[in-house]
Amino acid sequence: MEELSDADREIVEQAIEATYSSYAPYSQFHVGACIKLADGTLMPGCNQENAAFPAALCAERSAIFAAGAQHPDQAVTALAIAARDGSGQLTQEPVTPCGSCRQVMVETEKRFSQPIHILLYGRKRIYMTDGIRNLMPLSFTEF
Ligand code: THU
Repeated sequence: MEELSDADREIVEQAIEATYSSYAPYSQFHVGACIKLADGTLMPGCNQENAAFPAALCAERSAIFAAGAQHPDQAVTALAIAARDGSGQLTQEPVTPCGSCRQVMVETEKRFSQPIHILLYGRKRIYMTDGIRNLMPLSFTEF
């Protein structure tokens, strides 16, 4: 964390904060996300589970879709993800997004013609990469 820039540390801290709003009674895996928009707006998100399991939504997609609904003209410039496990501890290893979230991030980058600065938090290490294509080769685009 100390090695991060102030701007990166801020969105990681907001992602950690968002884990406390997670609704995850089934998995007990509390995921938080924070995205930054081109105008500097920070938007949190967290996983929202449901008794009908497939109806649930991941933290990062909840943040991206909320931004799409509330700030449709603002590019997503950065995204951080963090999670707490059943014991309430932040995970040791970085949380890595599922395939569906990666696919949504591919589309978000394409929509705004801008790569997303990605920060995946773990207590042991933080993965950082610029552009979801590094995590999602051969994604589905269009036919
Ligand atoms: N989950 C996220 O919200 N984001 C991720 O990057 C990984 C997984 C959620 C989905 C589900 O609510 C719980 O974590 C366990 O899979």
